[in-house]
Amino acid sequence: MKIVCGIKQMQEISGKLRVCGKGIGFVPTMGALHAGHLSLIAQARRDCDFVVVSIFINPLQFGPQEDFKNYPRVFKQDAAICRKAGVDCLFYPGFLEMYPQEYKTYVIVEGLSDKLCGKFRPGHFRGVATVVAKLFNIVSPSIAYFGQKDAQQAVIIRKMATDLNLPVRIKVMPTLREQDGLAMSSRNRYLTPEQRQDALSLSLSLKLARALVKSGVKDSSKVIIAIRQLLGSKQKVKIEYVSIVNVDTLEPLKKIFGKCLICLAARVGKTRLIDNILIGS
Ligand code: PAJ
Repeated sequence: MKIVCGIKQMQEISGKLRVCGKGIGFVPTMGALHAGHLSLIAQARRDCDFVVVSIFINPLQFGPQEDFKNYPRVFKQDAAICRKAGVDCLFYPGFLEMYPQEYKTYVIVEGLSDKLCGKFRPGHFRGVATVVAKLFNIVSPSIAYFGQKDAQQAVIIRKMATDLNLPVRIKVMPTLREQDGLAMSSRNRYLTPEQRQDALSLSLSLKLARALVKSGVKDSSKVIIAIRQLLGSKQKVKIEYVSIVNVDTLEPLKKIFGKCLICLAARVGKTRLIDNILIGS
């Protein structure tokens, strides 16, 4: 497995592959890799001739009060995981390589970036869209892989790729969960055992929501109340939002019909967690 830190070098590698007609599968990450990331890598391995994973903790997508400084940095471990997973190339740029002094260009996907998580994390999706656009231009993937776990991120990246005519296919893979249902996340490692127990209420409340919808409940407000009640019964869980939205526009839906996304965010202690389920797909 090649480890590449320079943008020019990465572009040379991907340029040569594209000229030879090789398909590049790309999994952008911030490291601290877990089985969720690995499921994206495995799909890329199945689909593509050459697999690139990037590890870059993008400061642009963290707010001033967020966990950029404490975000887990375990490069050696991540590199070993990638090697074992059959990754061909690990792109690991430094901060100044990505954002040299006087960096000035940002990507904003209007209308989608300020909803849901965007309300609580101003600037977050501007940071995500900007870094992913740059990474696409550096890696030139044929297919890029994202997790349904970050549903809003996936919707925004898809829209950005469409609107900017980026020649890449976006594949969104299902959320991987721990055995007890907790959605896998690099941030789960911040949780104390008690917090982790309370954090289970996120996936449990979504399971309950699915059951309610299956049993015929159509009013979003009723489902949201049930989710809020379950989350509210846990002392350590502070809800940020619970929402039922259209899967493409992220607009709230009064009635549940067809495909929709039930999504939520909550703080468990200091750790911010998100989860969602797709209904009707
Ligand atoms: P990161 O949180 O490292 O996630 C990298 C990719 O893994 C994202 O597409 C995310 O949705 C996916 N992922 C995370 N947990 C998952 C799970 N439990 N099941 C399936 N997929 C999961 O998301 C980011 O990094 C960054 O915002 C990034 C896109 C790299 C831009 O900086």
